[in-house]
Amino acid sequence: MTSSNSATALAHPNIAFIKYWGNRDESLHIPSSSSISMNLADIFTQTQVILDLDLVCDELTLNGAPASQSSQQRVQNFLDQFRKLSGKKEYCRIFSTNNFPTSAGIASSASGFAALTLAAAKVYQLDINPLELSRIARLGSGSASRSIPGGFVQWVAGYDHQSSFAESFAPPDHWNLVDCIAVIGDDEKKVSSLEGHRLANSSPLQSARLESANSRIETCHTAILKKDFATLSDVVELDTNLMVAIMITSRPALFYWQPASLAVVFQVLLWRQNGLPVFYTLDAGASVHVICPQPYSREISSTLRTIPGVIQVIHSGVGGPAHIIEENI
Ligand code: PMV
Repeated sequence: MTSSNSATALAHPNIAFIKYWGNRDESLHIPSSSSISMNLADIFTQTQVILDLDLVCDELTLNGAPASQSSQQRVQNFLDQFRKLSGKKEYCRIFSTNNFPTSAGIASSASGFAALTLAAAKVYQLDINPLELSRIARLGSGSASRSIPGGFVQWVAGYDHQSSFAESFAPPDHWNLVDCIAVIGDDEKKVSSLEGHRLANSSPLQSARLESANSRIETCHTAILKKDFATLSDVVELDTNLMVAIMITSRPALFYWQPASLAVVFQVLLWRQNGLPVFYTLDAGASVHVICPQPYSREISSTLRTIPGVIQVIHSGVGGPAHIIEENI
């Protein structure tokens, strides 16, 4: 009975070291430049997909509550491609939960669409290889393509659907880095990354950022392979600052930072001046990701907790690939 097909997948969010900000093709999420990220082991999205013959549309429950109309529609459009590929017409019930604050600068859309991709491929009985899974996840949310493989991942920008995918270039145990996420305000962000990507080209600085993007990819890739923390710190902070420069010079300008975000950044700079190996990066939110080698993470997290405006510090090592945790096919 296909109506009882169900599968549950787990996927980790990722933190980008070299950012994706702006699309060459908006509908296919073909990015304007390649990006590099690390998966986060301790935080995840778990998504159960159940095929149901009685449904007339997909039904998404997010963290225990019915999702907004726009999220329902986004997921339904995304699942249409699985129906098209499999020839099956059934809709799905989807139960998705995050063990971390949704939309607070931790990429819940990345882990969300990666988990959904895996579970949906399973229930629609599609035999899809990992590179193709990453291409499909990309259509849900660009950065979701990087949450399909494990460890340290590069998303090759490409120029069309086939050439734009993410691949791991070092496994999770390659380097014991820890992301100490200083969560600042867990309110849903006001401007989605979808809208942010759209605005990127309105910044007069975006073309300069893109011209130099490949050299930062090279530097970051080599620094990770060589475990060269000083070079990695330098290139990640530069790339983060360039993305923030695009955000604040877009029209209209986008300010994701809060005063507490800057307080965390200054603390990181002070630590580094005092010889501690640590760097910062941010995504499209106020939270700050503070990265360090594992032996320093306890000390760093306990100080981060004392900074006014930091609500919580989430700790995470390097995570593996998205995977199926339960199936009933
Ligand atoms: O995948 P999206 O559309 O949520 O975009 C992610 C954008 C950033 O998180 C800011 C950068 C990145 O590369 O993850």
